[in-house]
Amino acid sequence: MTNTRAYGYTDTLEAEHYDRALRADISDGLSRTPKSTAPTWFYDARGSELFEEITQLPEYPLWRAELGLLQLHSRDIATRTGARSLVELGSGSSTKTKLIIEALGPTGLHYVPVDVSADALHQAGAQLVRDYPGIHLHALRTDFTAPLVLPELPEAGPRLVAFLGSTLGNFRRPARGPFLRGLRDILRPQDFLLIGADLVKDEQEMIAAYDDAQGVTAEFDKHLLYVLNRELDADFDPDAFEHVAVWNATESHIEMRLRSRAEQLVKIRELDLAVQFERGEEWITERSAKFTTEGLREEMAGAGLRTEQLWADSEAGFALMLATAG
Ligand code: SAH
Ligand code: AVI
Repeated sequence: MTNTRAYGYTDTLEAEHYDRALRADISDGLSRTPKSTAPTWFYDARGSELFEEITQLPEYPLWRAELGLLQLHSRDIATRTGARSLVELGSGSSTKTKLIIEALGPTGLHYVPVDVSADALHQAGAQLVRDYPGIHLHALRTDFTAPLVLPELPEAGPRLVAFLGSTLGNFRRPARGPFLRGLRDILRPQDFLLIGADLVKDEQEMIAAYDDAQGVTAEFDKHLLYVLNRELDADFDPDAFEHVAVWNATESHIEMRLRSRAEQLVKIRELDLAVQFERGEEWITERSAKFTTEGLREEMAGAGLRTEQLWADSEAGFALMLATAG
């Protein structure tokens, strides 16, 4: 960290925690049948860049659908919440968030972007303080799957916690309950939670969103292999795997998978592990749940969250839900 940064930055994701979590997830995940690992590891500098490319793909309409909903309803969100602090989980580039920041009034607003990607936080942070000189910005690099420890925020004024982009869908159903309850626990009676959720739609459209013609999502998926080669001294050959996207109707999620093109043994030296892949074997690298508004409302209610307002784009199949700790 340099002392020229014009905003607060806290990194609670010590190398040690990241490393421990990465090692545990990869050694567990690659010993299971089917092999299955967490999507957290995609997001180094290049991974964040590839995600930004995905958001611009014609096949990935959810990002634009959420942007459209925020263009229409940010004013209403600002009026309903009156928030003077905004905490955003998985903030990435904070591009869509600017609409909320502008509606809330950036001057004097406390904004806490929370992300695992230091690079995404720095890029977004530098731009936000340029665009909004009066904003109080405190970037927090942490793992949002662990209990959240926020930087000190003023007690006065309601807070809005935002979780956009349908990133909630990257949690599996049984993990969403405890995660949402954790969010509920940081809400005071006057605070709000805003969730963006992609809705179930035509199967082919959902699959295309995760298997685009230009192969950007395939590159994003295989990027995991470069991360593991670098972080764990592994010898994955990205050409020995192909990217596939599959709709799992039972669990209502898309699975990104890496399919082994051949029988192979991959060494992961830092884990002292050799992992066997059969020809055609598929490794689930990410799950992206697709919701119904009723289902999500019930999940939130189950976690003690009362939905105050729902804005949906039924054509694009995306919804924003504003909730309180009911
Ligand atoms: N909200 C943004 C970005 C979504 S991409 C948008 O809608 O465009 C998902 C973001 O969550 C990425 O920036 C990624 O770095 C972050 N992320 C993924 N897993 C995380 C974790 N476990 N803890 C914190 N951030 C995480
Ligand atoms: C961040 N997350 C909600 C994205 C999604 O749609 O699951 C990540 C992504 N993976 C492939 N394309 C986009």
